[in-house]
Amino acid sequence: MAQPRHVAVIMDGNGRWAQSRRHNRFWGHIRGAKAAKTIIEHAAQSNLECLSLFAFSKENWARPAQEVNLLMKLLVKQLYKETKTLMQNNIRFYCIGEKEILPQEVQVAVNKTEMATRANTGMKLIFAISYSGHTDIINATKKVAEKVKAGELQPQDINDEVIASHLMTAAFPDPDLIIRTSGEERVSNFYLWQAAYSEFCFINTLWPDFTANDFDQALEKFGKKERRFGQTSEQIVKTIQTDKHRIVLNH
Ligand code: FPP
Repeated sequence: MAQPRHVAVIMDGNGRWAQSRRHNRFWGHIRGAKAAKTIIEHAAQSNLECLSLFAFSKENWARPAQEVNLLMKLLVKQLYKETKTLMQNNIRFYCIGEKEILPQEVQVAVNKTEMATRANTGMKLIFAISYSGHTDIINATKKVAEKVKAGELQPQDINDEVIASHLMTAAFPDPDLIIRTSGEERVSNFYLWQAAYSEFCFINTLWPDFTANDFDQALEKFGKKERRFGQTSEQIVKTIQTDKHRIVLNH
C-alpha cells in the first residue's frame, strides 16, 4: 500500500469541542495540544517523513486578543515541555510562517526548539504558525522578482521548481495527504501551492477527539487511492508494471 511521505493536518474544532461541553474555548485548545502530541509521537513512530501541523493561521490574529494571547502562551509552554519528546523520538522541528510578527517569547521558543532538534534525523515536524498560503506565494514571488531584477534569472526560466524553491516549504516534499478535522471541507489558506496534487481527507471528529487510530485510518484510505497526477489510469498501471519489471531485472 502506498505510504505518504508528507501528511499535513488542519487541526480544527477545538472551540466547538469545548463549547459543546460548556467550557470556554481555551479548554479546547489545551485538549487540542494533547491530541497534537499523541499524533506527533505516533507519526514519528510510524516512520513518516514529514508531518505539518497548521497551529495558527495568519487570519487567526483577528480572534479576540485574549484567545490569541492564551494560544501563544500555550504554544510556548508546549514547545518547552515537549522538547524532550521530540528528542526521544528523533524528531526535527521546523516553524514556518511570518515568524517576525510572533511575540518575542514565541520566537525565542521556536528558535530554541529548532536549534535543539537540528541534528535529529527522524521525522520532520513542521509547525505552521502565523502561516498564510497567499503570503507564502507573495513572498516567493517577491524573491523571484528580485532575482530577475538583479539579472540572476530570466523571466522565461520561471517554472514550478523555481517558485517551489522560494516557498517556506522549499526543504520539504509537497504534502501527499491533507487531513482536516471537524467536518469543515475547505483549505483555509493553508498549503495553496503545495496542495496541487494532495489527497484530502475530511473527517467529522473534532480535533481534541482525533486519535492515532483515526490517523491510521486516513493513511489507509490514502493508500487505496490511485494518484494519477493528470495521467490516465492505464498510464499509471503501466508505469507501476514497468517499475516492478525494472526492480526484478536489477536484482
Ligand atoms: C482550530 O480550532 C485550532 C486552532 C486555531 C489552533 C490549533 C491549536 C492547537 C491544536 C493547540 C496548540 C497546539 C500545539 C501543538 C501546541 P478552532 O478554535 O478553530 O475551533 P472551532 O472551529 O470549533 O472554533
